Amino acid sequence: MRQVQELTADNQRLLQSVVRSEKRFRTLAKSVWHVQEEERRRLARDLHDGIGQTLTALVNQLQRIYDDALGVGNLGLKHRLDGALDITRSALHDTRELSRLLRPTLLDDLGLDAALAWLARTLSERTGLVIAFHSELDEQRLHPDVETLLFRITQEALTNVIRHSAARTARVQIRHTPMLLILRVEDDGHGFDTAKVAHAERSASSSGLRGMRDRAELFGGRVEIRSAPAQGTVVQLTLTLDGPDTDAPT
Ligand SMILES: Nc1ncnc2c1ncn2[C@@H]1O[C@H](COP(=O)(O)OP(=O)(O)OP(=O)(O)O)[C@@H](O)[C@H]1O
Ligand SMILES: [Mg+2]
Repeated sequence: MRQVQELTADNQRLLQSVVRSEKRFRTLAKSVWHVQEEERRRLARDLHDGIGQTLTALVNQLQRIYDDALGVGNLGLKHRLDGALDITRSALHDTRELSRLLRPTLLDDLGLDAALAWLARTLSERTGLVIAFHSELDEQRLHPDVETLLFRITQEALTNVIRHSAARTARVQIRHTPMLLILRVEDDGHGFDTAKVAHAERSASSSGLRGMRDRAELFGGRVEIRSAPAQGTVVQLTLTLDGPDTDAPT
């Protein structure tokens, strides 16, 4: 009887130590994630304020020379400046877009709905994929970490749709109840064999789908992927809104 009691006590101590380690691991993984996001924020700002400003100045400069060439009727020079202006404007556009994709300031300033609507519009314009976006959040703000988590998962899921699915349309949906947040990204593309990819996921050191699952788990969330060849793909994140890191600020 005493041995059984001792064994039970040992087991309980072991369990408590596993729970403590798990907690420490989550805290550590979250701080690594914060550092990554902070780095992305810094890079996005540097790109926007550095190269972005330089290119804006260059466009203005070229525009003035263009106006001068037009004034003196130098059509050859005007024509060449036209080309130079086009290239510079396109470099400026790419720089701004890259900066926003790294970390959209919209996400911090206006929240998830605005950032996801922008992401859907940008990817749609760039690739021709029709992306519908519907959210029950009604622009309500969530904990900043949760907003970042949902943004990154949507970004990865839509990038996968564009890279792998040959879909014509995709839909991003956010459902929100007092206790639950559900993000769903679906496409009408050719789908894939999830069993095969799950096997590859385990052997690879990192991948988009695995990164999604790992991040969701840090917040006690769950990512489910439903897909089959020729049947499109659904990526769904379910998150319970009851922890200190997932509560909406009051
Ligand atoms: N929406 C989708 N439609 C079709 N196939 C998909 C879709 N999403 C994922 N896949 C398949 O699952 C695989 C794994 O996706 P995952 O995002 O993990 O890696 P990846 O996109 O190949 O590389 P990365 O690490 O850059 O994300 C893809 O290579 C692709 O074959
Ligand atoms: Mg991917």
